[in-house]
Amino acid sequence: MVDWDRIREDFPVLKRVINGRPLVYLDSACMALKPRQVIDAMSEYYEKYPACAGRSIHKLGEEASNAYSDSREKFAEFINAEHTDEVVWTRNATESMNIVANCVKLPKDAKIVTTTLEHHSGSLPFIERARRDGLDVAIVEAKNDGTFDLEDWKNAIDGRTRLVSVVHSSNVTGTVAPMKEIVEMAHDRDALVMSDDAQYAPHHPLDVQKLDVDFSAISVHKMCGPTGVGVLYGKRDLLESMNMFLVGGDTVSDVKYENGQIIPEYLPPPEKFEAGLQNYAGAIGAGAAADYLRSIGMDDIEKRERSLLSKALIELKGMESVRIIGTEDINLKTGLVTFTVDTVDSAHDIATFLNEECSVMIRSGWHCVGPFHYQIGIDPKKGSARASFYLYNNSADVDAFLEGLQTLIEASS
Ligand code: ALA
Repeated sequence: MVDWDRIREDFPVLKRVINGRPLVYLDSACMALKPRQVIDAMSEYYEKYPACAGRSIHKLGEEASNAYSDSREKFAEFINAEHTDEVVWTRNATESMNIVANCVKLPKDAKIVTTTLEHHSGSLPFIERARRDGLDVAIVEAKNDGTFDLEDWKNAIDGRTRLVSVVHSSNVTGTVAPMKEIVEMAHDRDALVMSDDAQYAPHHPLDVQKLDVDFSAISVHKMCGPTGVGVLYGKRDLLESMNMFLVGGDTVSDVKYENGQIIPEYLPPPEKFEAGLQNYAGAIGAGAAADYLRSIGMDDIEKRERSLLSKALIELKGMESVRIIGTEDINLKTGLVTFTVDTVDSAHDIATFLNEECSVMIRSGWHCVGPFHYQIGIDPKKGSARASFYLYNNSADVDAFLEGLQTLIEASS
């Protein structure tokens, strides 16, 4: 049994009191809080061995290199990658998806498939690749509750489809896509699948081998790790076959000068995609975050969030002016709920009220998912409000959120 009250003590920021009230943080889908274990791992790098990994042969360089590669190993275990070198450090999930969109080799008549539910980072890099190379794009429309109809996928993925970009767990509806089925359909047609795991990896057990996804993109700041660190997982042979993204220092095994020409020989992945001096402290923090979450257990974290979500959904469903966006089936969901309130014009007003009057922090806006807001008839400028739960939230947080919302509804009716 996980002691969830004790887990809260790992997060120094939860000790803050704002306007005389305890902080209630319900914006983890945007940015997760950081536990002491992650902060310490990064401080240790800066205090004890703040050197370059993979370059300097001195003692500090050796320690930095070891910690950097240990972290990669920890992360490979966290997602169950077959090989450690299938984990590439990037800046964020956005960069990971840009690498795939730009560097996968595609034939001239290839078609790319994506959806209306994608975060802009999961659709725009692929739309731009298609525009650049004159490729076709097919858009699968999610249902208004954020779930997918497999028939729509069957119709969209055809013999010309070579690449599919799909969000595994939506940051708007919280719905979990039928990834295994989508991957099987895509592979039957020789198409590759890019899984946007930015919201999935922090909240559910992720097994890239079991799902057989070709690529996975993760943002470490959403999983209790530092900002500015992401992961691109890719099957080894695919990473090897892809074009380069950035080139420069540490991407090469040799750079010759012959007959007046500079001739580079590039390293295999992951170095091939990690040009220049890296965010060593960040990668070390990422390894610590993966270890931290594993030590608690992703199955337990998933269950905990779903129980908080279930409590919130039951109450929200009873509030007449609240419109919940996305399915209410918690078994299909990550621990977040997005909604609008009929009597409040803009979602920003909801978030502002909760922040100022209750010290409850939620997110408002279009959550970088414009197309889905247009699809369901919500003006993206007014946006939707989103409360997202994580392992450090408790029942009192849900109560504070619901009470604050009820007060707002009464005041605005
Ligand atoms: N994609 C992040 C969110 O959903 C920023 O809040």
